[in-house]
Amino acid sequence: MPMSNISRRRFIKTVAISTTAIAVGSQLTGCSPARFLHGVASGDPRQDRVVIWTRVTPKRRHAGQESVLWVVATDAQCKQVVGAGIEKTDASRDYTIKLDVTGLQPGTTYYYRFHSQDNVSPVGKMRTLPEGDVSQFNLAVVSCSNYPAGYFHVYGEIAARDDIDAVLHLGDYLYEYGDGGYATGDAAALGRVPNPATEILTLADYRTRYAQYRSDPKLQEAHRRHSFICVWDDHEVTNDAWRDGAENHNEGEGDYPSRKAQAIQAYFEWLPVREPDGGDRNYIYRQFSVGNLVDLYMLDTRLLARDEQLDYANYFTSSGGFDAAAFQADLTDPNRTLLGLEQRGWLQQQMAQSGATWQVLGQQVLMGRMNLPAPIATQQISFSQYQQLAYLAQTNPGALTPQQWAILQAPSIPYNLDAWDGYSVEREILLETARNLDKNLVVLAGDTHNAWANNLQTVGGVNVGVELATSSVSSPGLETYFPNENPDALAAGVTQIIGPLQYANLQHRGYLVVRFSADECRGEFRYVSTVKSASYENLAAYAQDVMSLPGADNRTVIVL
Ligand SMILES: [Fe+2]
Repeated sequence: MPMSNISRRRFIKTVAISTTAIAVGSQLTGCSPARFLHGVASGDPRQDRVVIWTRVTPKRRHAGQESVLWVVATDAQCKQVVGAGIEKTDASRDYTIKLDVTGLQPGTTYYYRFHSQDNVSPVGKMRTLPEGDVSQFNLAVVSCSNYPAGYFHVYGEIAARDDIDAVLHLGDYLYEYGDGGYATGDAAALGRVPNPATEILTLADYRTRYAQYRSDPKLQEAHRRHSFICVWDDHEVTNDAWRDGAENHNEGEGDYPSRKAQAIQAYFEWLPVREPDGGDRNYIYRQFSVGNLVDLYMLDTRLLARDEQLDYANYFTSSGGFDAAAFQADLTDPNRTLLGLEQRGWLQQQMAQSGATWQVLGQQVLMGRMNLPAPIATQQISFSQYQQLAYLAQTNPGALTPQQWAILQAPSIPYNLDAWDGYSVEREILLETARNLDKNLVVLAGDTHNAWANNLQTVGGVNVGVELATSSVSSPGLETYFPNENPDALAAGVTQIIGPLQYANLQHRGYLVVRFSADECRGEFRYVSTVKSASYENLAAYAQDVMSLPGADNRTVIVL
């Protein structure tokens, strides 16, 4: 509620005094922040506002309403208070607190904390976006954090960095599976068995799962030290979700729209995401302007409007042949969409109006064209077997059988129909938009659990942008599906076979730092040696040589 300047100043002064008293009191009694077990978080920074978050752990199961005092200050001791107030919460929002702190200055670091009657939260750090002539802006990019699959070392690495302005989370913040489900094989040994132990289906389930993830100290520390900008992917609801359904949802699990709504409710309760303007939480896509340097568009390719994924299995005829014509007709249906007309139109309009040097899409699935020879994509033959045949075809062609020639002559097809490859008409529309507007397009992606750098080319082969796709925080990558392949050789082979693909890492969990300046965009892939033990090495030195990808206006995108 608006306050007059005088009463606001007096209120802040009063709060500052009373919070000091509480802080001293808790230090004297040696209290740990038992009421703030899930830490603090900030998100969706703009020039004048940032969302701050915490959860107050109720003392009793049915505790009624809880009041929490919040303080925002310019110093880490929270003495130079610039904003404060009291928020109430209760069981209807799982005792989470989330508010938009306004009236802040651009490009400024702030500190915040929360006070309950008898406890003080850790002090969080956050930063507003800069405005005007911005010379440098750095993002850390993550996706696919899977609690039972491994330790969150990647979050710990990001928490320790002082050189990033915000963290982009591109989805799969959590996974829906129960114990025994996907990537839970090591969970018991790691002490990270999913809670609840069953697949999450209800609001209570989703809340419990968020609470478990947010009990992780490294994730808490990443949130405490940086402002996050988040979008969901499929697993925030369930695997391979689309507008009206999902691969991992069946009728026995209840009504899908209801499950989706409950998952979205828990997402908004637990993540520092701003409530959408119109109040409809299905509309999570939004824009962040970083002065004249970057316009960042966070997209929803998953829940809002996505048409159902195509499946190769549906195009095999009764005689066992593949009906390529029917598949092609469905794939190139001009109405087929990931974004939906409304979101796509919004994106095109915002890009057209933008004067920023870099147009950045923060979104879930790979946009780069990832076509593999059909026998590999359909797993009739392994990658190395295919390479051996190709080698033989060059060195001793007479030794190949007609069947082997047929394998080598099979067309290349998209290997992942859940990605933009399964929605290629709309991809072309976006790429042509960027081309016609002569924009520097950088697409950021997650989802695959491996790291990639791709040239984004129109069907005509014109480079219009670059895609940088981060590895996962802990979800297993392609290497687990090809255990007999050498991951270095596999990455080299894949980049050779897929023309626009410039870089791949198929073995390490990690994250991406993207540095924007007026002249260049620099993508730095960073990895950890393992997520399966508490100790690990930072594999910064593992990065590839500097590689320059073509950008518009002679600006370069460099991958390190
Ligand atoms: Fe994932």
